[in-house]
Amino acid sequence: MNESQGLVVVANRLPVFRVRGDAGEEWQTSPGGLVSALRPILRGRPSRWVGWTGRADDKQEPFEHDGIDNCPVPLSHDELRTFYDGFCNRTLWPLYHAALRPPRFSRRWWRAYRAVNERFADAAAATAPPNSVVWIHDYHLQLVPDMVRRRRPDLRIGFFLHIPFPPQELFATIPWRKQLLQGLLGADVVGFQTPLGGYNFGQLSRRFTSARRKKGRLDYHNRSVIARAFPISIDVQLYTDLAKRDDVKRRAQEFRRRTGGRRIILGVDRLDYTKGIDSRLRAFALLLESKRISPADAVFVQVAVPSRERVAEYRDLKAGIERLVGEINGAYGEIGRPAVHYVRRSFPADELVALYIAADVLAITPLRDGMNLVAKEYVASRVDDTGVLVLSEFSGAARELSGALLVNPHDLEGVSSAIHSALEMSEQDQRMRMRKSRRALERNTVFDWADDFLAELTG
Ligand code: F6P
Repeated sequence: MNESQGLVVVANRLPVFRVRGDAGEEWQTSPGGLVSALRPILRGRPSRWVGWTGRADDKQEPFEHDGIDNCPVPLSHDELRTFYDGFCNRTLWPLYHAALRPPRFSRRWWRAYRAVNERFADAAAATAPPNSVVWIHDYHLQLVPDMVRRRRPDLRIGFFLHIPFPPQELFATIPWRKQLLQGLLGADVVGFQTPLGGYNFGQLSRRFTSARRKKGRLDYHNRSVIARAFPISIDVQLYTDLAKRDDVKRRAQEFRRRTGGRRIILGVDRLDYTKGIDSRLRAFALLLESKRISPADAVFVQVAVPSRERVAEYRDLKAGIERLVGEINGAYGEIGRPAVHYVRRSFPADELVALYIAADVLAITPLRDGMNLVAKEYVASRVDDTGVLVLSEFSGAARELSGALLVNPHDLEGVSSAIHSALEMSEQDQRMRMRKSRRALERNTVFDWADDFLAELTG
C-alpha cells in the first residue's frame, strides 16, 4: 500500500475520549484491545478515524489528536440503549462468544443497529479520499462494508472482526443472519482472528447468500471476496522498551514489596463475563483450600477494568466477583495481608508493565476470547525470559503462544493445578517456555498483522 495515500479507519469508538481532569478537559485513550492495537500502526501514516466519542448526544466537531484526524459520529441516548447496550452487547456479544449468556433478539434493537450503521457509512463515504482504503472494525459495524460500497464503489474496503466469529449453528439462529452476511460481503477482505472464523463465515455465506467458493475465495455479485485469518498482535517493541526502563523496574519492585514479597499471580481483564475472572478466583481458592499453596507465600492480584456497566449482565458479574473476593479474603486473609488484591480501574501502560514484571504467573482464563492481547503484552514484557503464562485454550492467543500452560477454564481443578505447576516451575523450564512464546510473538507483531491485511486488501 502507498503510505502517503492514507487510511480511513471506521470503528465504534474513536481512539480517545474527553474527560474532565484537574487541568480542565483532557483526552484519554479509549478502552479495549482494538484501540491499543490500531493506534501504533497509524502513527506516521496520514489517517482518519471515524467513530463515536463515548458520550451520548455529543456534538463534538472533527478534531486532530496524536496525528489522527478524528471524525466523530454522534449517538443519541436512545441509540446507546438500543444499538450499543442492546444489539451490540446483548445480542451479538453473547452470541459471538458461544452464547455464554442468552442472546436477546429485538426488532427494535435491530432497526437501531441498521440506522447507526448507515450513519457510520455516511461519515466514512464523506471523508474517504478518492480510491482510498477504508478499514472497518468489529461487530458493531458489520453492515457498513456493503453500505460504503453502495455509496463509494471506488474504495477498497476491508473489515476485521476482533471477537470470535460464532459456530455455524449459533449464527444461524440470528433472525437477521442474511443481512449481516451480506453486509460483511460488501468488503474486499474480511479478516478473522482464527482460521475457524473464516471457515464458518465462508460456509454460512454459501448457505444463506448467493456467494460461491471459487479458487479459495468467495465469488459474490461478480466480485471476489477474501475471507481468512489475520491474528492480531501488539507493538512488541513498545512493551520490551517499557520493561527495560529503570522507573518501571523500580515500580515492579515496589509492587513486590507492597504484596509482602509473596509470589504474585496476576489477572488483568476488562470486567466481562467472557473473561472467566470468577472461575479463575475459584481455582485460586481451591489451591488455598487444599493447602497446596499458603496465603503467606502467594497472592492473587486482579486488575479489573470497568466495562459496559449499564448492561445488567455486567453489573451482576461485578457484584458476583466482588462478593467472591470478599469470601476468599474472609477465609484466607489476615489483617494487612489479603489473599486477593482486587483493583477496579484501568492502568496506564507503564504501570501495567511494572505489574507484568512483578508477576510470577499471569493467569488469563477466558471462556471465549477472540485473541487476548494482555497475554501477548505479558510475554513481550518478560525480557529476561522468566515468568509463566497460564492461558485458556479458548483464546485466539493460545494458537500462537506455544510456551504457555494451556487450560480449560471450565475445569477448576485443571486451572488450579496449572497455577500450582506454574508457581513450582524451575527457572530453566520457565525460560524455555517463555522463549518459545517470545519467538512466536516476534514473528507476528501488530505491524506484521496490519501489513498482511493491507497488502491483501491493496495488492
Ligand atoms: O475487542 C472487543 C471490543 O468490543 C472492542 O471493539 C472495544 O474496543 C473493546 O472491546 C471495549 O469495549 P467497549 O467499546 O464496549 O467498551
